[in-house]
Formats: sequence, C-alpha cells, structure tokens
Amino acid sequence: MQLSPSILAADFANLQRELERIRTADWAHVDVMDAHFVPNLTLGLPVVEALARVSPVPLDCHLMIEDPDRWAPQYVEAGARSVTFHVEAAGDVVATARAIRAAGARAAIALKPGTPFAPYADLLAELDMVLVMTVEPGFGGQAFMAEQLAKVRQVREAVDRHGGEVWIQVDGGVGEDTIGQCAEAGADVFVAGSAVYGPEDVAAQIARLRQLMAGPR
Ligand code: DX5
Ligand code: ZN
Repeated sequence: MQLSPSILAADFANLQRELERIRTADWAHVDVMDAHFVPNLTLGLPVVEALARVSPVPLDCHLMIEDPDRWAPQYVEAGARSVTFHVEAAGDVVATARAIRAAGARAAIALKPGTPFAPYADLLAELDMVLVMTVEPGFGGQAFMAEQLAKVRQVREAVDRHGGEVWIQVDGGVGEDTIGQCAEAGADVFVAGSAVYGPEDVAAQIARLRQLMAGPR
C-alpha cells in the first residue's frame, strides 16, 4: 500500500518546499497536462527535471498528453521513476511501455473513466502499474466516481490471475471518505491531491490516510 500525493494541489510557487512536506509519502505524483489531451496545462520536461533534482521521494509522472509514444521516454531521462501514459492517446501501447522500461523506469497505463480495461488485460506482462482514473482527468478537487470501483476490481482479478507484480493505482477524489473503498476493491497505490495538501498538517494527514488505506482489518 503506497501513497502518492499529487502536487497539482500544492503551491506551484514553492514546489521544492511542497515536496519536502510530503517526504513521508512513497512517491510524488506529477500531473503533466498539455491543453490538448485534457483542457488544462501544467508543466513539462524542464520542470520535471528540476523537481527530480530536489525531491526527497521518487517522481510518479502521470502524462495527460497527446503522443505519449514520443514523449514518455524523455520523462524517464528527466528523472521520473514511474511514467504513466493514457491508452486513449497512445499509438502503440506496448512499444511505449517497453520504451519506458528500457529507459529505466516503471511503465504504467492510465484508463479514463469511459475506457474499458478488457482490451488491455493481455498486456500485464508489459506493465508495472495500471491507473484507474476515478475522475475525468484534467483537474484536481473533483468528486470521486464510485462506479469506477468495478473496474478496479476487474483489474485486481486480472493482476491476481496474471501472478506478476503489477500495481493498481487510483487517482481522483481519493481522500478520507473514499480511500478505504479503493483499497477494498484492490487498489494498492493511492494518489491524493486536495486530501493531502488541503489540511495544514500534511505529515499528519499522510499518516491518517495510510491508516485508512490499511483498512479496519
Ligand atoms: C486529475 C489528476 C489528479 C489530481 C487529483 O486529472 O490526474 O492527479 O491531482 O486531485 P484530487 O486528489 O484533488 O482529486
Ligand atoms: Zn494524476
């Protein structure tokens, strides 16, 4: 069970300080948006490179961009330890995943809420993680889409059947009220933006979310 706070909810004028505040997390989730694949624009390669130099935790880059086939390996070169790209934008999913791995990072696919998992179930050997979006990608602070939990369960079954070590990430509206359900459905990497950076005491909130994702068991 791992926590990957999204710096989309952080103070963009002080990113180094904001990374320090999540040093007890497992990853820093970096949302790369290009104003084409999603209607929002955030940051790109030069900023990721700068963040990688100072981050106390590894970078988990979530690419919400067109043509990830071309760009994804460059995010590994920039210092990302995990690179996630959207299947809806990719030309060749397998080739892109292989290029990410060849460059030295974990490779992951992301599925928008309307995108089924079934066509990709056979690709698990090529992947280190599957990201099931629990909001429409583009913005932080949106409401969690509980109906996506069925997809999380479906991915969990496929991963267990496959037997390899493939992580299942959820992203969007994940917080105190929803993280337990995500864990119960089979997710094991949790992205949270507003739920981590909203409260004043970020370290205490990370500890609280870790408790909730471990569940009442
Ligand atoms: C949305 C991004 C998310 C976003 C999550 O497109 O992929 O990572 O930062 O923000 P919250 O946790 O506030 O829903
Ligand atoms: Zn994200």
